[in-house]
Amino acid sequence: MITKEITKDVFFLGGIDWNRRLFDSLIPLPDGTSYNAYLIRGSEKTVLLDAVDPSMAHQLLDQLKEVEKIDFIISHHAEQDHSGAIPHVLEKYPDAKVIATPKGKDLLIDHLPIPADKIQTVADGEELSLGNKSLKFIHYPWVHWPETMLTYLKEEHILFTCDFFGSHLATSETYVSDECRVYEAAKRYYAEIMMPFRKIIKKNFGKLNDYHIRIIAPSHGPLYHKPEFIIEAYKEWISDEPGNLVVLPYISMHGSVEKMVETLVDALGKKGVVVQPFDLTVTDIGKLAISLVDAATIVIGTPTVLGEPHPMVAYAARLADLLKPKVKFASVIATYGWGTSVVEKIAEMIPHLKVELIDPVVVKGHPKESDFRALDELAEKIAAKHRDHQFKS
Ligand code: FEO
Repeated sequence: MITKEITKDVFFLGGIDWNRRLFDSLIPLPDGTSYNAYLIRGSEKTVLLDAVDPSMAHQLLDQLKEVEKIDFIISHHAEQDHSGAIPHVLEKYPDAKVIATPKGKDLLIDHLPIPADKIQTVADGEELSLGNKSLKFIHYPWVHWPETMLTYLKEEHILFTCDFFGSHLATSETYVSDECRVYEAAKRYYAEIMMPFRKIIKKNFGKLNDYHIRIIAPSHGPLYHKPEFIIEAYKEWISDEPGNLVVLPYISMHGSVEKMVETLVDALGKKGVVVQPFDLTVTDIGKLAISLVDAATIVIGTPTVLGEPHPMVAYAARLADLLKPKVKFASVIATYGWGTSVVEKIAEMIPHLKVELIDPVVVKGHPKESDFRALDELAEKIAAKHRDHQFKS
């Protein structure tokens, strides 16, 4: 049965996945997540916006128990955590039509057992009357698949955004109350899901200026009844300007790289540069992703393992490359015993990072006085770059 009313005819449905700890078999979910769906009852038509992950289809169907008719199911995004339960909803409401972008139609057919004749496509800006209410569809590709769109409920000024502006956060609260907690969760979500598409998100961001938005209703995490909170945060995250921050993911096997990290962290701090080291043996990879949102420089620390970077460092470097943060500079601090190609290998692992490489510090055996001096020089080079660009802390 429907339990949460947003306005008189708009309802908040879906499932809270309190215990999920991994998404896409990749992304840590320290706070669980939710799969939000919404129901709008117009005077003539009833619409379901998105469904839920298939694991929670039974919950959605239970919430819909007393809903006799659904005319349209709007699919903003074909990924299964929102579309996976659509076939179950169609079984209950066989006359319902699924609404998606043209690309969304293709992806729904590819990923789910939904017949093509059940899906109706909508153009960018197209409207759908529900009688006393009307919906406007806004194509907004690459948040974070190519088919994504948003829906604006004109009379209530509610923008339904699916993944966009979402947060992996399981909470019984309908709206954001603890902004700090949601900021962290939403930034983690942006870093892991949206950041690779920063430039296209930025290009389309102006589309939102055409709408008076009273509520943003995403499909993960709580709703925003102060939309400017998340809109302003996104503006900062998608901006081209990084902060005065060095991110330093590293592995140390016998303590030498750790000594180098400690020296570099200390030297950077003394020169006014904020630095965040991540020991990859204990790091929540999501925290690393969050730091990459603002970082101007990435320094990768690694021992040499069979001539190459440590495999956990290789993983972090590939992840950073895939997430395409706006870092401007990169360097490597490394150790080796008798031969190494770590710098060349790491450079090969980050082809998408449009960075200027700053001279690495590569040490044979344990670090000595001259190596500590080299690390101090590296810190000064980084600090000078940050000063020249006037990156702000
Ligand atoms: Fe929440 Fe891209 O799915």
